[in-house]
Order: sequence, then structure tokens, then C-alpha cells
Amino acid sequence: MRKELSKILIAGGAGFIGSAFVRLLAKDCIRRGLSLTVVDKLTYAGDLARLNDAKGKFRFYKADICDKPKIESIFSKEKIDIVVNFAAESHVDRSIKNASLFMDTNIKGVLSLLDASRRHKIKKFIQISSDEVYGGLKKGKLTEDSPLRPSSPYAASKAAADLLIKSYIRTYAFPAIIIRPSNNYGPWQYPEKLIPLAMLKIINKQKVPVYADGKNIREWLYVEDCVRGIYRIMQKGRAGEIYNLGSGEEKKNIEVVKALLKIFKACDKLIQFVKDRPGHDIRYRLDSRKTFEETGWKPKIKFTQGIRLTADWYMRHNHAH
Ligand SMILES: NC(=O)c1ccc[n+]([C@@H]2O[C@H](COP(=O)([O-])OP(=O)(O)OC[C@H]3O[C@@H](n4cnc5c(N)ncnc54)[C@H](O)[C@@H]3O)[C@@H](O)[C@H]2O)c1
Repeated sequence: MRKELSKILIAGGAGFIGSAFVRLLAKDCIRRGLSLTVVDKLTYAGDLARLNDAKGKFRFYKADICDKPKIESIFSKEKIDIVVNFAAESHVDRSIKNASLFMDTNIKGVLSLLDASRRHKIKKFIQISSDEVYGGLKKGKLTEDSPLRPSSPYAASKAAADLLIKSYIRTYAFPAIIIRPSNNYGPWQYPEKLIPLAMLKIINKQKVPVYADGKNIREWLYVEDCVRGIYRIMQKGRAGEIYNLGSGEEKKNIEVVKALLKIFKACDKLIQFVKDRPGHDIRYRLDSRKTFEETGWKPKIKFTQGIRLTADWYMRHNHAH
């Protein structure tokens, strides 16, 4: 007898990380026992071209996660069992200029998904949170129990969503899992974040802006490793838990930019130090042992390899931006 497929709704599936997740699952969704539905508002950051390789393997709805009646109708029609939520306003600098859209999508949008999920008694809800909810730290690592100390309006909106979800877990025994990935990079990232922005500037022989002295440290995770990790946690993670997802590869921003200049054989003179971002966290570093131990996930792509793969991709897709 044919096994019944789990019906998974991927919100924000036309974004950078969400689309990598859809491409991963679409490769063999039948063997994985999944039927895929993608929901995305297609903001400036959403692009269906990212899903060209998965064509025919998912159903698509252009919808705002804040639009409760529309979300309700999608849940009813598709008989959703699992939700994975990537949908968000995701760029810190934009949140500093205007926070209100961040509060709508990242908090009220999550609330709308939670309520539809409860009504439809879904089996699993996976929220893609961020390492930024912890704020920065100079030394050591952040565990899942570290306090939430968000610095930017973006990080505050993500932390608020995490608290809301924790309240649903406690109050309604709601089957949610929160995943906190570190900084992602890879093909298809919208060129406002450090790596794709710097690459395109270098390719086009323009100045590369670097905040302050470039000494801020991030933990860089290749997007394909990230989505494999999310899938593992979806399969093996325990409901009600939080999982960090980091590569352990810490790099100063200036090291990242210099690595890119080297790949493209460009001169350091392209670097232009600019006024720091207000509230800029000095360093993020996750302790991801819980994820390693409970799910067996390990990142496979080292930074030196991932950055080359990404550079190759941007060389080929320079025209797309
Ligand atoms: N990029 C990173 O380094 C990183 C690191 C940690 C966590 N995250 C989190 O991972 C998730 C995905 O990040 P990303 O980099 O792929 O973001 P992204 O900005 O590339 O994609 C976000 C997607 O959500 C969609 N969207 C925005 N508002 C929506 C709404 N109201 N309704 C429906 N869809 C909407 C956009 O159209 C876009 O397709 C986000 O929740 C982000 O907070 C990202």
C-alpha cells in the first residue's frame, strides 16, 4: 500500500534559505514521503527563479503570512501536517531605518501561522529563528539556554517570535521546534548582505563597503549545510526544543572581504571602511553540540570551499542583479 505523504508548508520558500530547503526536498520528495506547498509574499527579497530547479514538485501560493483568511484557506485546501517558517524581513540595516514591517511579518505573521497551525492540529511547526536573538558576545559560545539580548529591531522581532512560540509550547503543548542558524552564505542570496554585496562590487570593480574597522566576527554557514541541518532537526528534533545550527567557522568581516578579493584577484584598495552600523554586535558564536548529538548533523562544506562555490555562482549570475 502506498504510504500517505506528509504535507509540508514552507513559508518564505522563495527566499535565500527557504528556496535552498525547497530545492533539497524537491530532489526526491516522494522517497522522503513529502508533498510540498510553498507560500511567499514575493517581497523584494523573494524570487521564484530560485525554484526553477524544483519546478513541478511543489504548489505555490503568493500570500502574506499576516493575511489570516488567506493562510486559513491554504491550510484547509492543502491539509497541512508540517510548517517550516522561513518567511521574514531579514535585513538588519532595513530594520534600523524602519522597524514596523519587521514587527508585522516577523511577529504578527508568525502569530497568524501559529493560530492556523493550532486550528488544523498540525504535527510539527519549525520556526527558523536566528543567532542574532542572543546578541553579541566577546568570548565563549552561546547555548540554547543563553539569555535573549537582541540588539537590532530585526533581532528583537525574531526574539519576540521565539518567546511567542515558547508560550504556545507551554500553554497549548504546541509541537514547535525553534532553530537558530548562524550567518548563511551561498548562491542566490540577495546582494544586500556582506558576501553577495562584496562579490558583486568586486566583480563590477566598485568599492566594497566594510563597517568600522572590519573586526566584527560572524560564524559562516554554507546554505546547503544549513538546510540539511534544518531537515535533520525536522526529522529527529524533539518538539518543544531549541536547536542552534552553526558551522564553528568564525571570520572577521575584513577576512571575508580579503578572501573574496583574493579569489577575484582584485586589489585591497577596493576596500572602503564606512561608518559602523548602530548597535553592531561584535561577535556571534553558537555552541551547536546539542544539534550534533541529537541529530547527527555536521556541516560538510568548509568556508574556503563554500566561498569558492559562491563566487563561481555569482560570476555566472552577475547579470541577474
Ligand atoms: N540569511 C541568514 O544569514 C540567516 C541567518 C539566521 C537566520 N535567518 C532566518 O532565516 C529565514 C530566511 O532568511 P533568508 O536569508 O532566506 O531571508 P530572505 O530575505 O532571503 O527571504 C525571506 C523570504 O520571505 C518572504 N516574505 C517576507 N515577508 C513575507 C510575508 N509577510 N509573507 C510571506 N512571505 C514573506 C520574502 O518574499 C522572501 O522570499 C529568516 O527567518 C531569517 O530571519 C537568516
